[in-house]
Amino acid sequence: MPVSLVILAAGQGTRMNSDLPKVLHQVAAAPLLHHAMQAGLSLDPEKLVVVTGHGAEAVAKAARAYDARCDTVMQAEQLGTGHAVAQAMPLLAGMAGDCFVLYGDTPFIRPETLEAMLAARARHAVVVLGFEARDPGRYGRLIAEGEALQRIVEFKDATDEERAITLCNSGVICADTAVLADLVSAIGNSNAAGEYYLTDIVEIARKRGLSAGVVICDEAETLGVNTRAQLAEAEAAFQARARAEALDNGVTLTAPETVFFALDTHVGRDAIIGPNVIFGPGVTIESGAEILAFCHLTGCHVSRGATVGPFARLRPGAELAEDVHVGNFVEIKNAILDEGVKVGHLTYLGDADVGEHTNIGAGTVTCNYDGVNKHRTKIGKRAFIGSDTMLVAPVTVGDGAMTGSGSVITENVPAEAVALGRAKQVTKPGLAPKLFDMYKAAKAKRQKDQA
Ligand code: UD1
Ligand code: CA
Repeated sequence: MPVSLVILAAGQGTRMNSDLPKVLHQVAAAPLLHHAMQAGLSLDPEKLVVVTGHGAEAVAKAARAYDARCDTVMQAEQLGTGHAVAQAMPLLAGMAGDCFVLYGDTPFIRPETLEAMLAARARHAVVVLGFEARDPGRYGRLIAEGEALQRIVEFKDATDEERAITLCNSGVICADTAVLADLVSAIGNSNAAGEYYLTDIVEIARKRGLSAGVVICDEAETLGVNTRAQLAEAEAAFQARARAEALDNGVTLTAPETVFFALDTHVGRDAIIGPNVIFGPGVTIESGAEILAFCHLTGCHVSRGATVGPFARLRPGAELAEDVHVGNFVEIKNAILDEGVKVGHLTYLGDADVGEHTNIGAGTVTCNYDGVNKHRTKIGKRAFIGSDTMLVAPVTVGDGAMTGSGSVITENVPAEAVALGRAKQVTKPGLAPKLFDMYKAAKAKRQKDQA
């Protein structure tokens, strides 16, 4: 049976104290919304609707950036979670199978938990995800007997006796799509908040003779982000889990607590990651590669046997083939380094292709930007770029060619040629002591004049 997904993301998140819509705040270098979408997409849904409101355009754009097939619907006024789901239902008209409702600000629901809810649907028309709260605070309370759920009462509407219940509502709900549409359309707003509560569907279902059930997950999964403190907490929780997973997968982390992963970081088995390495989005490190201390990597691919760092920066489009060596204080952007290329020190390679086994000397710079446009530098195989070469793009250096140290290369260099682009050296025998004497005399005069 197909599955549909509704993700609620209309809220402003007042307590974030931010101009940015809450679901666009980032954990692990990805918007909270992407975490929720990733969890939901594990169900392989046929249809996904994101309900937007505050910052609708930006939220919709972020949603489509993660999955181009997703639909968005605007909830102009935030009249409650039930009202939010109602906005999405017309887009799901005629869909067979079950529909899940997730929150965009609740990033850590596990695929296994969603699977357990799907399984519980065999026994109940409506399935709600609950958790035992250490501090139940203002969560909605689940009035249940074992797995059977009677109703959900919001904190504001609860009696003291109900407030004493510690089994709480996570917000995740699953029901047959048509049934959900029907139940949601029956929700009213006569309650303490004057809102349309999605949680009311449990009572409405039971009145219609349908059963409701609760599936329980760990509280850590339901961690919602409402404040910057909770955002930081979510980051810490994500990183702790990502580090543990990397270690389990056979990655060496010399100092795990100092390595920061992104939501989509892939690190292969037997890779070694040194201390203080930061992964931005879109990084793949293959098996057996080594990233030394203090590297910052974003949007790049590092192949087997390659070594990077310490203190290197790989930016989007950096492609390192097998056995490439990138050393300290090197920045690589939008550049393809073929097998065995060495870029040892103090270099910038941007918008470049470098052929296999070429050596790039210390201090080399691809001058890729003319102030208006970016241009490409192409370097062949087994070439030798002398230290401190400025490659003024667009420019090509052929296979097996050399450039002299300190050259400014503005013209293409044919294969196997040597290019020198620097002033010729002038040497004056015996002049140095005379210059020293001149300088000393000038300094002495200055000091005397000041006294
Ligand atoms: C909701 C639940 C509560 C549960 C808690 C878990 C209801 C009535 N209450 O309460 O039982 O314990 O979540 O965190 O459902 N949203 C919209 N449009 C709206 C209202 C909300 O898109 O009109 C979105 C918010 O952006 C947020 C999510 O729905 O992502 C939850 O809304 P929120 O206002 O935080 O609900 P709570 O009052 O916390
Ligand atoms: Ca909330």
